[in-house]
Amino acid sequence: MKNEQGMAIVDRDEDGVDRAFRKDVLNGLRQRQKAIPARWLYDDAGSQLFEDITEVEEYYPTRAETEILKARGEEFAELIGEGRAVVEFGSGSSVKTPLLLSAIEPAAYIPLDIAGDFLRASAAALGEKFPGLPIHPVEADFMRETPLPDAVKTMPKLGFFPGSTIGNMVPRTAVDLLRSMRATLRADEGTAPLLLIGMDLVKDRDVLEAAYDDAKGVTAEFNLNLARRINRELDGDIPVDALRHEARWNNKFARVEMHLEAARAIDFSICGERFSMAKGETIHTENSHKFTRRSSATLLLAGGWTPVKRWRDSEKRFSLILAEATEQREAP
Ligand code: AVI
Repeated sequence: MKNEQGMAIVDRDEDGVDRAFRKDVLNGLRQRQKAIPARWLYDDAGSQLFEDITEVEEYYPTRAETEILKARGEEFAELIGEGRAVVEFGSGSSVKTPLLLSAIEPAAYIPLDIAGDFLRASAAALGEKFPGLPIHPVEADFMRETPLPDAVKTMPKLGFFPGSTIGNMVPRTAVDLLRSMRATLRADEGTAPLLLIGMDLVKDRDVLEAAYDDAKGVTAEFNLNLARRINRELDGDIPVDALRHEARWNNKFARVEMHLEAARAIDFSICGERFSMAKGETIHTENSHKFTRRSSATLLLAGGWTPVKRWRDSEKRFSLILAEATEQREAP
């Protein structure tokens, strides 16, 4: 598959295997602490399971962020102003994006996502809700600086990155992303870009662990789907029934970690390579970092953004932060 700039997005071998997926899985399982990058949780089944997670009782972030977006429209309008091109990093959800767009009267909307089909579907749905609004979907990996369509190049920009997806990255990667967003959003001249970003907050350990280990087992299915995906796509024979979903708060790094834990000693092969796991050994599959006011500000500043305003939901569980691209200074 190629994007509009002709760059390959998914690189497959002659058998249709995603090379990057195979490399990450094999490398990750050769490590002492087995670990697979969280982005591989999101095949079609995983993306659907994540949508289901957002509706379970214990998973508060989506509801809390939506509450802020609904309550603060007037303040967004005042601080952001009219006439910006809104660039959303990751395809817009059916609920959050319209709340922002109807509050601020944007000049254009540019959803940017690697999943082309999903991108076009959500852009079309939005087009029906906002008939006069120019929409320019861009199929690209938002982790990299991306050229925007000529039609919006000179417009002042607002980046939108809801959901606390920034929390799924370790700080170094999060800073790289914030910097490349800043580069993507730079207008040819004039007004500094703004960024509206969701960042989940540090809170009681029990609340956090329950949010990532719901009673209905939807998050467990989401995590176990990664092992099923490996079996499906990488000719694997992982005994999925021997794996247990685990969500644990890591206080040192202020993050909830998801692991797949072996309930008994197991052996399996993937793409012809043999692996084993002792009873109790885990594969680390996701980090979800949580922030304080200070840690969120530090991360944003390191990424080239100065916080302007922070809002929280009524139960103070989640924050939405408006930041402005920091002027480049060499001194003091
Ligand atoms: C997409 N991301 C912000 C979710 C989170 O809360 O870290 C992914 C997720 N993993 C398990 N539940 C939700």
